[in-house]
Amino acid sequence: MNLIPMPQALQKRDGCLAWEGKVAPQGAFEQTQAYVRSVSAQTSDTGNAVAIRFEQDSSVAAQGYRLEVGADGARICASDEAGAFYAYMTLQQLRDGKDCVPYVTVSDAPKYAYRGFMLDCARHFWTIDKIKQILDVMAALKMNEFHWHLSEDQGWRAEIKKYPLLTEKGSIRNGTQVSPRDSAPDSARVKDAEYGRGLYYTQEQMREIVAYAAQRHIEVIPEIDMPGHMVAAIACYPELSCRGEATEVSPKWGVLDNICCCGKEDVYRFAKDVIDELVEIFPGRFFHIGGDEVPKKRWKECPACQKKIRELGLKDENALQGYFNNQIAEYLRSKGKRMIAWNEALDARENLSRDVVAQWWVHHSAADRAELGWMKDGGNCILSYVSNVYMDHSYAIRPLKKTYCFSHKTMRIRDDRNVIGMEIPMWTEYVRDEEKLDMLLYARLIAFAEACWTPIERRDYKQFETRLEAMRPYFARMRAAVCPQPLYRGKSLPWYTTSPGRWMSWKQNTSAEVDYMHALQAQDAERK
Ligand code: ACM
Ligand code: ZN
Repeated sequence: MNLIPMPQALQKRDGCLAWEGKVAPQGAFEQTQAYVRSVSAQTSDTGNAVAIRFEQDSSVAAQGYRLEVGADGARICASDEAGAFYAYMTLQQLRDGKDCVPYVTVSDAPKYAYRGFMLDCARHFWTIDKIKQILDVMAALKMNEFHWHLSEDQGWRAEIKKYPLLTEKGSIRNGTQVSPRDSAPDSARVKDAEYGRGLYYTQEQMREIVAYAAQRHIEVIPEIDMPGHMVAAIACYPELSCRGEATEVSPKWGVLDNICCCGKEDVYRFAKDVIDELVEIFPGRFFHIGGDEVPKKRWKECPACQKKIRELGLKDENALQGYFNNQIAEYLRSKGKRMIAWNEALDARENLSRDVVAQWWVHHSAADRAELGWMKDGGNCILSYVSNVYMDHSYAIRPLKKTYCFSHKTMRIRDDRNVIGMEIPMWTEYVRDEEKLDMLLYARLIAFAEACWTPIERRDYKQFETRLEAMRPYFARMRAAVCPQPLYRGKSLPWYTTSPGRWMSWKQNTSAEVDYMHALQAQDAERK
């Protein structure tokens, strides 16, 4: 059966239900019924419409469902709206491209409650329409958390009324780095001018995305990365930094020393003001504060930071970041939100509030100890291990199989009780247009969706690839351009594998993969 993610249990029977297009939803789960009506233009309550009966059944697991397709239509049992919605998504896949849906009984529930995707809209900007299209595909794949990376050294993308410069100035940069070692340069594809005109989301647009996502059972989690990766904000308000010097929105990628000064009360005020406006827009349970890659160089030289460390009796600069994290976590809690931070937040975890969720992306011995200890003490984690799930990495180095086979076991976690879920991030330093975004994004998103829905014991990569290939037309109808099979298998780039002198990083060589994709597409067109 061509279903992704693969359900827990599926029984097929002889026969199929004729389905011309009209549907008649009825019973429980008003919200899901409204969605079904909104996407089925020909909904009708009479005539030859297929009946879809929704029933509330509290014995079904959260987000799970039972779906029966038989001669008299489809029957869906769930305990919550999300489960009812996912049953309908399964039904859509079962009927895709056919006018007769096979008789089946499906029993299903996700491995993880949290199944996320992150999009970096700061390094490169993605339109509201593009985000909606990705949300459609996420919904079809039963993914339910959209982590929206809205601020960076290279651009601030969320309108904040109290600090208008953030978007007037902080969304504009004076250039866009073209990979210096890239033998297949992206220069032709770079539209630098775009980043000189101010690209950001108005509050109204952010609300539009939240509403669109909510209809699809996707929660939107805003991320404002603090106290590092803040150069765009510092360019607007230099007083936020230790030195208070004028600077510009960074045209270059990397981990920059110029960060917010956690010795200054203004920085805490700023962070809380930004949170005040965003929590009014994002009604979800979580708020992400980034917290990754925070070099402490400036703090070590800064009188204000050093004074704060002394006054608070803190051990060192890491503990100062821990103090900042706690202040923000507490503020978010007062707003009814739970804080998520990248796992560097655990560098000073001694006093960190236990309700903070750590998103574990780097794997090194210190992180392992902190993360594993954190979970042993009851702290929660989201798994996003860089070597398996980062979407901006080349398939030649990280073939799709690595993403598909990712699980808590990859990270040597024996007991995953405190893992609330997994998330796949799309960083966009070297991703400059939608074609490249799609190439990197869709195959991995599809593989990852199954990785967080289906336990590792029941996954089968070979069989997954067969389903993925068979479902190309289904994804194409959603405008999800899945890259060619030889590419996602990592068979590209002979020059990369054979010439160490031309080694390009896993991020940079993806532009060569675009060229490889074009070559494959040209071959394909010729064959046809
Ligand atoms: C990260 O990749 N810096 C979270
Ligand atoms: Zn400072």
